[in-house]
Amino acid sequence: MMVDGRPYRTIRVNDDGWSVEIIDQTRLPHRFETVTLRRPEEAAHAIKAMLVRGAPLIGATAAYGLCLALREDASDEAIDRAHALLAGTRPTAVNLRWALDRVRAALRNRPRGERVEAAYACAAAICEEDVAINQAIGRHGLALLEGIAARKPAGEPVNVLTHCNAGWLATVDWGTATAPIYMAHDRGIPVHVWVDETRPRNQGASLTAWELGHHGVDHTVVADNVGGHLMQHGMVDLCIVGTDRTTADGDVANKIGTYLKALAAKDNGVPFYVALPSPTIDWTLRDGLAEIPIEQRDATELTHVSGRGEDGAIRTVVVTPEGSRAANYAFDVTPARLVTGLITERGIAPASREGLARLFPDRAGTADR
Ligand code: MRU
Repeated sequence: MMVDGRPYRTIRVNDDGWSVEIIDQTRLPHRFETVTLRRPEEAAHAIKAMLVRGAPLIGATAAYGLCLALREDASDEAIDRAHALLAGTRPTAVNLRWALDRVRAALRNRPRGERVEAAYACAAAICEEDVAINQAIGRHGLALLEGIAARKPAGEPVNVLTHCNAGWLATVDWGTATAPIYMAHDRGIPVHVWVDETRPRNQGASLTAWELGHHGVDHTVVADNVGGHLMQHGMVDLCIVGTDRTTADGDVANKIGTYLKALAAKDNGVPFYVALPSPTIDWTLRDGLAEIPIEQRDATELTHVSGRGEDGAIRTVVVTPEGSRAANYAFDVTPARLVTGLITERGIAPASREGLARLFPDRAGTADR
């Protein structure tokens, strides 16, 4: 997507042919800064400290993290060490393990001298596939927005509510939940996006609003608790959110608060869609509530808030009383029964074992292992 007239992807190999450039998302929306990763430990830090975040981008960064490790030592033991280091950074997004396993599998039985090149080729393929997947999700989701627009008086916008950031910043490009929005906007369909602020880290207010604004998409940031009110008053035509891990039965883990939006959508007859790239499907799991690990992050993400002061300086302030405990659950699970449909790169599936298996017959069997 474009940043100040320049096309950008969230991750790329620098001109030196090996080091990796990322956008430091902890600086947005107030500063656009890039960071160069040269060591696997730096890639692991970038994921853990959320310089990069969003399931697909976490996977892509981890893949390049393995490449960086291989440059230092291409032995089997070193690969396993780097795999463990990177896999341990964040527990919920399954793309992390998927990408690491895929790169490691690409190296199996290769002589050491060929491993670095093979790893970079695999990481690049993961990135290219992510872009193609998101474009396909965009095309399938676009049909939903076109259908709603056709039923509305001419010129009235399609109101989409989204949670967290499942935009291009969370992927290599396009985003998952945002791809249909960008495509509709580019085709002249009026779209307005309700952007949940997404406490505690404010990925909606800081990242989704930033990228929609840069693309010229009309949007309004709302506090996390507003969505139910908007839906009760007919101000949301559909919800589209992303996911960090979806089980073979269609249960969806996504940023904390997604479940509450799905409940409100159900109660108000608002369609609730999840944009789901296939690498985010965990075919080995069925019951999301019981089986998906939910990340708990440092309580300071909740007790402290950062922002730009009137003088332009970034400040952090404390919002809770001294001595109060804070719990920071980063994700929740929305049961399949609350999901209207899963927008995948192969089409829109009902959120069910049968629905996913019909679109992905080549992969569905692994759920029974
Ligand atoms: O903690 P984050 O910012 O990595 O969480 C991101 C989300 O929950 C996204 O909605 C999800 O990864 C889908 S991104 C296409």
